[in-house]
Amino acid sequence: MTTARTYPAATAYREILDQANRHDPYPYFAELGTVPIQRLDADNWLVSSHEAISRLLRDPRMSTEDPRIDTADVPLGSDGKPVTGPFLFRDPPHHDTLRRQTMYRFAPRVMAMRPHIETLVTELLDKRLGDAPGRLDVVAELAYPLPIRVICELLGVPPADEPVFHSFATRLTKALDPEEALTRQEIAELTVTRREWRAYLMPMIAQRTERPGPDLISALLTEGDPRTRMTQVELGITLGLLLIAGHETTVNLVANGTLALLRNPEVLTGLRADPESVPAVVEEVLRYDPPVQMTSRQATADITVDGHTIRAGEHVTLLLAAGNRDPRRFADPHAFRPGRPANAHLAFGGGVHYCFGAALARMEAHAALTAVATRLTNPRLLDDPPPYRPNTTLRGPAELLVAYDAVT
Ligand code: HEM
Repeated sequence: MTTARTYPAATAYREILDQANRHDPYPYFAELGTVPIQRLDADNWLVSSHEAISRLLRDPRMSTEDPRIDTADVPLGSDGKPVTGPFLFRDPPHHDTLRRQTMYRFAPRVMAMRPHIETLVTELLDKRLGDAPGRLDVVAELAYPLPIRVICELLGVPPADEPVFHSFATRLTKALDPEEALTRQEIAELTVTRREWRAYLMPMIAQRTERPGPDLISALLTEGDPRTRMTQVELGITLGLLLIAGHETTVNLVANGTLALLRNPEVLTGLRADPESVPAVVEEVLRYDPPVQMTSRQATADITVDGHTIRAGEHVTLLLAAGNRDPRRFADPHAFRPGRPANAHLAFGGGVHYCFGAALARMEAHAALTAVATRLTNPRLLDDPPPYRPNTTLRGPAELLVAYDAVT
């Protein structure tokens, strides 16, 4: 995911940011992919090959920190240094400490949720489906509510607050887009939203500190060595990260997956006949139409890639979605073919920032796509291509209307 910063006005960026290309950026990515790495301007590079992206994601000389942040009034974190951002935008070693503390308490709670996630999917569809024919917006009625409900339950947020969380998730996600893709008004709205998010969280944090429950927020506040435990400011920022990194990404995975299934009826039929094949289907959706299209890094030392030297201080955009269609890595890359051998896609990134929520995202997508394949009779798209949300970094349909027949 990209930090909000200004990108160069090079043609390649204009094409990537252009909403007109949002429904199908892949022909353009394929063109870019013929050049594994290219300089865009004085201090920006674009990387499109699977090999170079994988290498740079794992290179400790590539940073996610923004060195321009003014730390004058920034509170200090558990490492005694200013809290400049969530752990996605921190480098080791503090990144590792914050990630480890969070993961230690997040992973067991996620593992315990699997059966519950399947129940949530069943409940969402039961609300909508009967025996009669009908139509469903897969985004609004399945893909969107599922991850919000899951994250609220993990954090111990009461169901009555789900609409508030939902609204924060949508508004904060804009922060992941390149600044160039945002209007001045959107940037101003983001500042207000961040302030509202802090105001919303603070009473909840105070209440959990006093009366901890079994939820993740309470665990992060009260467990572990108090000398190294994350501060309340770090906790608030970490919760914001889980929300923006974990919500619309999962929405897009379920929506992109449904779209791929309905455009490839033989795969849909195969999944209906053998629901246990869902992991291979989900991995192929992640490769073929990744919810996170790109991310960025800044070099902290000179690094040579494919004969080009990225100088210290220069910015690099890693086009994950282009790397996933790299013909040097994947045979017939534009075909949607679940079960392809060694599907080492880049959808969850790589290296120290490898997606923190990958196991949860997979669980939610397995449950949702199995339900789409097994519970809808003769499903078909009513609008193809569907309308897309304007977001660039996290790309996915704004709605996905599907018609289905009566249960026979
Ligand atoms: C990091 C993708 C779901 C939390 C990342 C990165 C990618 C990614 C590409 C790496 C960004 C970079 O290196 O710059 C996805 C996709 C998802 C998904 C495609 C769903 C399909 C989730 C969920 C959560 C989550 C459900 C949590 C609830 C995070 C966090 C990071 C991250 C906290 C930062 C990790 C770090 O810096 O160590 N994700 N994500 N993600 N993701 Fe996910």
